[in-house]
Amino acid sequence: MSVRDRYAELLVELREHNHRYHVLDTPIISDAAYDELYRELTQIEADHPELISMESPTTRVGGPVAEVFAAVQHRERMFSLDNAMNIDEFDAWYERLRGALGSEPLGYSCELKIDGLAVSLTYISGVLAQASTRGDGVVGEDVTANVRTIKSVPLVLLGDAPEVMEVRGEIYLPLSEFVTLNERQAEEGKPPFINPRNTAAGSVRQKDPGVTASRNLGTWIYQLGYIEGGPDLSTHTEQMSWLSDLGLRVNPANATLATFGEVKGYIEDATRRRHDRDYETDGIVVKIDSLADQAKVGFTARSPRWAMAFKLPPEEKTTLLKSIEINVGRTGAVTPYAVMEPVFVGGVTVTNATLHNEGEIHRKDVRPGDTVVVRRAGDVIPEVVGPVVEFRPKGLRKWRMPKKCPFCDNPITLPEGQAKARCTGGYSCPSRLREYLYHFASRGAMDIEGLGYKTVHALLDLGLISNPSDIYSLTEEDLLSIEGWGELSAANLLSVIEASKRQSLAKLVFGLGIDHVGSTVASRLARRFGSLDALLAASVEEISDIDGIGPEIAGSVAAWAAEEDNRSLVSRLGAAGVAPGGAAGGEDLSRTLEGVTVVITGTLEGFSRDSARAAVEDRGGRVTGSVSAKTTALIAGANAGSKLSKAETLGVRILNEAEFVALLDRP
Ligand code: IVH
Repeated sequence: MSVRDRYAELLVELREHNHRYHVLDTPIISDAAYDELYRELTQIEADHPELISMESPTTRVGGPVAEVFAAVQHRERMFSLDNAMNIDEFDAWYERLRGALGSEPLGYSCELKIDGLAVSLTYISGVLAQASTRGDGVVGEDVTANVRTIKSVPLVLLGDAPEVMEVRGEIYLPLSEFVTLNERQAEEGKPPFINPRNTAAGSVRQKDPGVTASRNLGTWIYQLGYIEGGPDLSTHTEQMSWLSDLGLRVNPANATLATFGEVKGYIEDATRRRHDRDYETDGIVVKIDSLADQAKVGFTARSPRWAMAFKLPPEEKTTLLKSIEINVGRTGAVTPYAVMEPVFVGGVTVTNATLHNEGEIHRKDVRPGDTVVVRRAGDVIPEVVGPVVEFRPKGLRKWRMPKKCPFCDNPITLPEGQAKARCTGGYSCPSRLREYLYHFASRGAMDIEGLGYKTVHALLDLGLISNPSDIYSLTEEDLLSIEGWGELSAANLLSVIEASKRQSLAKLVFGLGIDHVGSTVASRLARRFGSLDALLAASVEEISDIDGIGPEIAGSVAAWAAEEDNRSLVSRLGAAGVAPGGAAGGEDLSRTLEGVTVVITGTLEGFSRDSARAAVEDRGGRVTGSVSAKTTALIAGANAGSKLSKAETLGVRILNEAEFVALLDRP
């Protein structure tokens, strides 16, 4: 075989393997075998530069592009989509369609609305000739050099291609790539990217295609535009499966459905599974499937009448960061939080969001007065992603942790080597005392029903409590001084308080509010030491000897026990008559992990594999052996391997050991 023939043969083989790997996700040869073929190709190109074809995968990444992206006129206009913000608007669209068609539509194509950026790809005789952005819909920008680097975009179509064809699709940054990219940014000391969508857009509008190539962008093709030649097709679905046969990447999550009722089922399902995918979606696109029906209803000035985007609530919005306040928690830790102009995001109105610690605030560089991006994906706690620096007013100052606690006026310090600042006021700090009492009285701890937030507030305001142990010296007279309290409610609370003195040791230890000691750890400590005195006297080694308790927790218990304030609290509690009724722990765990499926991988410090499994199962959770989209979380210990990368790819939550313990301890 001549070199020329071998070269042509290699191009075809590599094209097919590329398609299988990047478009279909079902490779049939190993990476090593692919590399072998690729190397053979590059060798031929080095020896015979005159043979190099623009269809060769080696030409995906070319040299830098011109300063400005050239204007490209789309052969057919790139329309936008009309949005339905709720089911009523969606139903109204259906009624309009029935009116215009005089009958039910013949079927619908339901698709995910990918949150990336739209592109148009022009293929001439099956060869990628141009890629352009949407622009104003009529004229876009030429981004061919960058789009050529995206491996799921075929440089040459498979099979019988038409003479000229424009296809439309979305370029997006997979969430797993976004995470990796930001890890890399952090390692290099660079600021993180704000969101996958903007990063994808920025990556496509790069001057250096090498940078675009490094971002591992993905594509989904969702529409056929202008075409000369090609088969006679009568539905959108047929067009999509034809494009897929030509080697373009069409989303397998698309479905063709017969009735409007089924369409609504698709919407519900897609909404529920919004977070199971490795890319962001901001809605569901529904298109009338019949091309004849599409032609009948036509277009408005902006968008087709035959399609509608059912919008899902945005998971990111911008709002004003009015101020940064601090809260002193039950352990004395000081946590700054953002107070924002209320904003509706991810389905709820958000006003406050934790900022964790001062270091985090400076790392994100958010300042009071900034416009900030707020994110709330699914059931995740709202988060301030970062500032929109372009909108920053002049002269905004960096936020600094106050030197003194605003609640008790005592100094705030940052202990050596720690991220979290602390209030030094001890239990006398009203903010700490309030949080502490609330926790101490809660169901998982001393279980003092009737001592909720409101009552705690009232007791503090009236100056009736200045130390947690003061609960036990409250009198009927004290309680009657709370507005709205009568003899019956006072008597009730006093009897519950009295009964709590016999609460189990496990619950008392949990109630003490030691850092990292949730109910599970508390049970273990109670069972091992049997009394508060024995626990206070225990060494770090003795504590960390317990199965399921690592050095971090042990250190925290020992540090707690060493503090004078805490020792005095324990002796006051004893003097007040608090005498635990027994160690008791573990038997009556509530099923807090019902419906949760986890996979455990790597080595955990504080658990054997069996004890970790038991801890999950005791709470009603499930432990399985392999990661899938159904996995709630992967618990990753040291030296986690392939399961970790699988979880990253699928966007499954990954918890380290401390987070695992927190999961076990959640109420
Ligand atoms: S069809 C003529 N299908 O949404 C119909 N668009 O708001 C043109 N998009 O510019 C669009 N996923 O960037 C269509 N499955 C999908 C889509 C989709 C995302 C984007 C696209 C378009 C925008 C309209």
